Amino acid sequence: MAKIKKIFVCQKCGAQSGKWIGKCPSCLEWNTYLEEIENKEVTSLDKKNIWSEKKSKKNIKPSRITEINNTKTQKILTLDNEFNRVLGGGIVPGVLVLIGGQPGIGKSTLLLQVILNMKETVLYVSGEESEEQIKMRADRIGVMNDECFIITETNTSKILTVAKNMMPSLMVIDSIQTLASPHLDSMPGSVSQIRETAGELQRFAKEFNIPIFIIGHINKDGAIAGPKLLEHIVDTVLQFEGDRNYTYRIIRTLKNRFGSTDELGIYEMMADGLREVSNPSELLLSQTDESMSGSAIAATIEGMRPMLIETQALVTTAVYGQPQRTATGLDMRRVSMLLAVLEKRGGFPFAQNDVFLNIAGGLKISDPAMDLAFVAALVSSLEDISIPLEICFAGEVGLSGEVRAVSRIEQRIQEAERLGFKQIYISKYNLKGLDVSKFEIEVIPISKIEQLYKRLFEDI
Ligand code: TYD
Ligand code: MG
Repeated sequence: MAKIKKIFVCQKCGAQSGKWIGKCPSCLEWNTYLEEIENKEVTSLDKKNIWSEKKSKKNIKPSRITEINNTKTQKILTLDNEFNRVLGGGIVPGVLVLIGGQPGIGKSTLLLQVILNMKETVLYVSGEESEEQIKMRADRIGVMNDECFIITETNTSKILTVAKNMMPSLMVIDSIQTLASPHLDSMPGSVSQIRETAGELQRFAKEFNIPIFIIGHINKDGAIAGPKLLEHIVDTVLQFEGDRNYTYRIIRTLKNRFGSTDELGIYEMMADGLREVSNPSELLLSQTDESMSGSAIAATIEGMRPMLIETQALVTTAVYGQPQRTATGLDMRRVSMLLAVLEKRGGFPFAQNDVFLNIAGGLKISDPAMDLAFVAALVSSLEDISIPLEICFAGEVGLSGEVRAVSRIEQRIQEAERLGFKQIYISKYNLKGLDVSKFEIEVIPISKIEQLYKRLFEDI
């Protein structure tokens, strides 16, 4: 028997209410409540207290942890090393993975490319594109696979029936926002539908031990559309990001029940699919032989990977009253802080100048160790003196202009040395326990930013 229940659900956080409310008491957003109809199947179990069920057919017996067999958790390795890396070393059977990203960033391309290169039988479910469109994309990627099956369907019960008959080794759902469960009357993409369909997929994945990859769109605020709840249901959350005007794409692990969340994979979007970038530094450094003012190289670590990245600054006289501050790839508040420190400690007249700061390659990096490179780039542009190409920087700048120690300094120095840099500026406080004599690169420890520009641009 079906019981029809009307509820109002906040489309932002998934909170429910019996009546419409203007402001959500849970996430404090306005106008987010929508009426949804829940068509819930009432089973006999719902009516009874399940703990007092005496005639349960299957007696549940607790297992000793030492007796649990985990041979089933053999991970499936894909051909894509970056993808294996973010998943924590391969695909765990029965895992539910959510891949979020803005439209057009390349989510469908990435998953299609991964499954086309697999030997196992794969079912790709698309609610967004026709079979022909998917075939066209596969043609672009240029790999064909006889074991890759496509269905274009949005009804979860039909999808799961197909999957049950087929028993693929892996399933891809493109995307969760197009799925609709026949048990609910609300629109595809609504909070209730997302929650219900994700729950059905989760039960299927766990029951049949089939890994399922779910593509999810990201809304304007950068969150995966639908409630946070989706992130709790899945085992792993990956985020695919990058600037659409650039070719680099980064895939980050935001949550992983089976591996580290420090991982990150880098790709380059080519005309024939995504290319793995196993050595990011070499690509991210700009391809000029000449040193130019306003450019400084930072030895950063993203996730677990050391990368040398070019930071660029342009400081020009402000033409209009209010000086402009523009930052691409880094936090504006960080820029204001660095400018204020430089103004106060070094007396540099940034208040009268327009300032543009940029990370080359369209990447967004939040490593505080980039501060020192930004400071060097800013002073270099203001004074119009270039920094020699063989110098790089790794240090955080504090409010009083002190250069603070950063994590994994040894890895940063090693990467700089590997790429042929001759000098690296680091914080004096990083020297503790660090044997600098083993490096060929000259390590220059400093404790204040004054020492940086005095040494770099000696006559200032
Ligand atoms: P797509 O995978 O459709 O993005 P999403 O599923 O995240 O919405 O990728 C879209 C973009 O990628 C599109 O602008 C075209 C581009 N692209 C390439 O540059 N090379 C390729 O080989 C493919 C398949 C797509
Ligand atoms: Mg897509």
